[in-house]
Amino acid sequence: MKLEWNLDFPVESSLLSLMESAASQAVRTEGITFPCYASVRICDDAAIQELNRMYRGLDQSTDVLSFPSVQWPQGRTARQQPERLKREYDEMMGACFLGDVVISLDHLKAQAREFGHSQQREAAYLLVHSLCHLMGYDHMEEEEKKIMRAREEETLSALGITREEGGAAVSDETLLALAREAMERSYSPYSHYPVGAALHAKDGRIFLGCNIENASFGATICAERTAMVKAVSEGAREFDVIAISTKDTPGWPCGICRQFMSEFSPNIRVIVTWGDGAHVEESTLGQILPHQFELKG
Ligand code: THU
Repeated sequence: MKLEWNLDFPVESSLLSLMESAASQAVRTEGITFPCYASVRICDDAAIQELNRMYRGLDQSTDVLSFPSVQWPQGRTARQQPERLKREYDEMMGACFLGDVVISLDHLKAQAREFGHSQQREAAYLLVHSLCHLMGYDHMEEEEKKIMRAREEETLSALGITREEGGAAVSDETLLALAREAMERSYSPYSHYPVGAALHAKDGRIFLGCNIENASFGATICAERTAMVKAVSEGAREFDVIAISTKDTPGWPCGICRQFMSEFSPNIRVIVTWGDGAHVEESTLGQILPHQFELKG
């Protein structure tokens, strides 16, 4: 699942990356298996008010607007009508267009304050809500509202985002699926060996990484270190699991990545998957890197 960003002003990357993971999870929850994309505009209250007035005749600001591109029959969603989605296939994007989402950052911030949770959680909620609309869900009638809410909760809790403090456990399946998606963004024109990683921090955040090669070869960075560098630079230092995805052969972390990860989480669980998810194996960093180098004593 790809998001095409349309930002009216610069937006913090941690909000955007959680929204990207939430979008992927939303289509996975719906059981959509072919590639999709949606456009997401982030604007202020004045801009969303203008759109609300133009398209809905309501001269007031709001948190989110959804413009589905697929005409779903009443009461039907993408999981029952995958062929409708396929008609939206966009050759240039190599994916099916779900529609447009517009989110007001002013509203997002105010609602996060009001509910006493993070802006990241609010961003994920608003996007998942809107994507549910793009996939055919609605909340006009009591019954359909319950189903839509259940779908939203299923998506958010798979990502460890819950109403309660602390969050839910993120399943290995979610992390493996995110690692597989991250692998699609690999830049590996020299080795043709794409690698993806999804790193789960103890504070609940998930950081994705892919290998990024370089013409000098030596400047190449592995997927595991890309994920960890992103995480540490965003303030996360404790991790419990890293999922790693490769194509045809198992991609256990190289020696440099093992040493690099042991700096922060010497006993992190390491799960590897290859062959389109057909194979999964796991170990711990302690097992695959005994006697790591330490500057102590
Ligand atoms: N690679 C990783 O991303 N992680 C590892 O732990 C081992 C190797 C990448 C680096 C390079 O782009 C490609 O795999 C082939 O070595």
